[in-house]
Amino acid sequence: MNQSHPDFELNTAQIQALESAVKLLKAGKLVAIPTETVYGLAANAFDEAAVRSIYDTKGRPSNNPLIVHIKHADELRAIGKNIPDMAWNLAARFWPGPLTMIVEKSDKISDLVSANYSTVAVRMPAHPLTLALLHSLDFPLVAPSANRSNHISPTKPEHVRDSLGTKTPFILDGGACQKGLESTIIGFENNGQDVVLYRQGALSEEELELFIGKPLIYRSEETKQSQSPGSSRKHYSPNTPLILVDDINQHLEKGHNRVGYLVLKNEWNFSPPNKVIALSPEKNLEEAASKLYDALHALDQSDLDLIVAQSMPNVGLGKSINDRLKRAAER
Ligand code: TXA
Ligand code: MG
Repeated sequence: MNQSHPDFELNTAQIQALESAVKLLKAGKLVAIPTETVYGLAANAFDEAAVRSIYDTKGRPSNNPLIVHIKHADELRAIGKNIPDMAWNLAARFWPGPLTMIVEKSDKISDLVSANYSTVAVRMPAHPLTLALLHSLDFPLVAPSANRSNHISPTKPEHVRDSLGTKTPFILDGGACQKGLESTIIGFENNGQDVVLYRQGALSEEELELFIGKPLIYRSEETKQSQSPGSSRKHYSPNTPLILVDDINQHLEKGHNRVGYLVLKNEWNFSPPNKVIALSPEKNLEEAASKLYDALHALDQSDLDLIVAQSMPNVGLGKSINDRLKRAAER
């Protein structure tokens, strides 16, 4: 097996773990893989039975298509067709990285992967272990986030175990995910001239627009929903009720026994039994994004009656965080 990725030296334990992951994936089994965004539940994209077991393991509705993970932008040629120039430009600029592109699918992609859509979602992840894994395989990997459907996405191996329980597959341990929010999903319209935003994510809208040189197109919630089920309103939910508020001051001690506050910076004097998690004392939204799901997992396991989350400034990754918090607040 090709044991190294050009930019990355693997230690012995990592090489052994990679070898196990390769064996399992070749045998049609699932493996939880680290990416820079969140952990994915991976299978051979060309093995129908393996892909089917992803849906079973997550309890995922079969109308929710999967993202195909590739090791090199060139692979887009085999997986998609009629790829717009803009897609190649975006791949050259943002891959490997947290950008998923939806293109017309080729015959290589089964209807199971695309959930009967004529399109397929593709991205090249940036985690060195998973890139090394992909370089050791002669097939791409489909990988949704490695959590039970509709629950909080995993950014650490223990989140995968907590969410999937006895269904947890072998986990390729790549530590905590660096970005901590799912990839941004875009598609193309008007012969590839227009870029449509389907899911806000770890690549900010501003950064994308700066590169594209014109505004992204936003779809109404209804269209988005039918196009990208990850944008369904309720998603990313903790079990504990969560409310999203602009002003924490108006939501202090409202008769609940134990409240967990999720804030950017702790500017209040919360006292036990209440709990507070500050996402970034420096008010850095990248840092806040990287810690968001870990904080939600922690609050959800703290036996609280309510989680009060503060909305983030509506710029950069603050928009993506707010998007996830809104969905987490849906009941
Ligand atoms: O960061 C990520 O994207 C992570 C890591 C593991 O790569 N994956 C992830 O996958 O978030 P998942 O399955 O949890 O979310 C994929 C989203 C879903 O909302 C799905 O509806 C959308 O991608 N999607 C996939 N194929 C699509 C298509 N052909 N058209 C529209 N939306 C699509
Ligand atoms: Mg997901």
